[in-house]
Amino acid sequence: MSSPRAPPESMEIDPTPTSPKASSPTTGRQLDNLDRLTAPIEVTLQIPHSVTDTLSLKSSIFNYKWEYGRRYHAFEEGTYWAPNDERQQEAEDMVHEMYRIVLEGRLTLAPDENLQHVLDVGCGTGVWAIVAVRSEFADEHPEVEVIGVDLSPIQPPFVPPNCRFEVDDINKRWTYPKNYFDLVHIRSMSGCVPDWVAFYKKVLKHLKPGAWIEHVELSGVAQCDDDTLPPGSAQRRWIQVFKQIGEAIGRPFDIAETAGDLIREAGFVNVHEWRLKIPIGTWPKDKELKQWGAWNRLFLLQGLEGFSIKGLTDALGWSYEQAQLYLAELRKEVTDDGIHSYIDMLIIDAQKADETTA
Ligand SMILES: C[S@@+](CC[C@H](N)C(=O)[O-])C[C@H]1O[C@@H](n2cnc3c(N)ncnc32)[C@H](O)[C@@H]1O
Repeated sequence: MSSPRAPPESMEIDPTPTSPKASSPTTGRQLDNLDRLTAPIEVTLQIPHSVTDTLSLKSSIFNYKWEYGRRYHAFEEGTYWAPNDERQQEAEDMVHEMYRIVLEGRLTLAPDENLQHVLDVGCGTGVWAIVAVRSEFADEHPEVEVIGVDLSPIQPPFVPPNCRFEVDDINKRWTYPKNYFDLVHIRSMSGCVPDWVAFYKKVLKHLKPGAWIEHVELSGVAQCDDDTLPPGSAQRRWIQVFKQIGEAIGRPFDIAETAGDLIREAGFVNVHEWRLKIPIGTWPKDKELKQWGAWNRLFLLQGLEGFSIKGLTDALGWSYEQAQLYLAELRKEVTDDGIHSYIDMLIIDAQKADETTA
């Protein structure tokens, strides 16, 4: 029976603040604020009269919706609460970089010797899937095929032939064959699945016996090992706010806290679970943690509005101004190196039983 590889050891964070001059890395990419200033716009594609059903379906998935100056997916409109515009895509790529650094360049901690069919669920920009088909394991196993599935067709059009993207709703019935995948990868999908046990059972059905699921999440619970993050702070309130949003939309946000138990309940075996502390900001003394914290902060500053604006307003009924005030409070805390907060990163690998695991 193969075992997943261990991630880098979870390090103790030295809460001693660093110099306030410590700065985060820059990405070299400027944020595009123009779409914030854009009034809500309905985007309509010009479709020729002789359009076929397929073309019309294809076009409709690009018929993006605009709200709060942000662009949202069109297929199964309203299903997912974060925008799919450039600004949010950059946030996703930033957090991908953070995951990459934390996992020391590894794409997965699951055994990757015999991968043939891989599914990346809610693949977003497609960055994980693309890196997967360009990685060592694809070089060594040219037969590997990675499918990325998402509500948004935001992945690049030109990708290696063994990488394929599909627009679909992962919460609907899967048309993939049963006992097919060698690895199903799930990352940053908190608030996207109504019933995780049912979802994991579906993954189980489509995995080959002995194959692996990997689920990676960032927790929404801001933690602090000293008294620099007061109880009423915006970061402390974050998880309560998202608990309410999760209840309102029927998709919980606490999966980083519950995934281990739910994966076992769904019937997976050989469950390995790791929790790493990811600082928010550059306050740790340790160089590596400072780097993780810098990427985490960059990601939060870039992504916060997208992650929250629809939930705060549509789901909780806050006014746009109230929501922006709360976000401003959060940003202020996130950039304050006097606050020694961190969140957990959860990595779970688990296996579908076969004769070797019995
Ligand atoms: C936070 S992003 C994570 C993207 C990617 N997993 C990553 O780690 O880079 C969540 C993604 O899930 C997708 N998503 C949410 N609900 C979905 C659903 N029901 N079916 C398919 N994709 C979904 C969103 O469109 C979005 O791209």
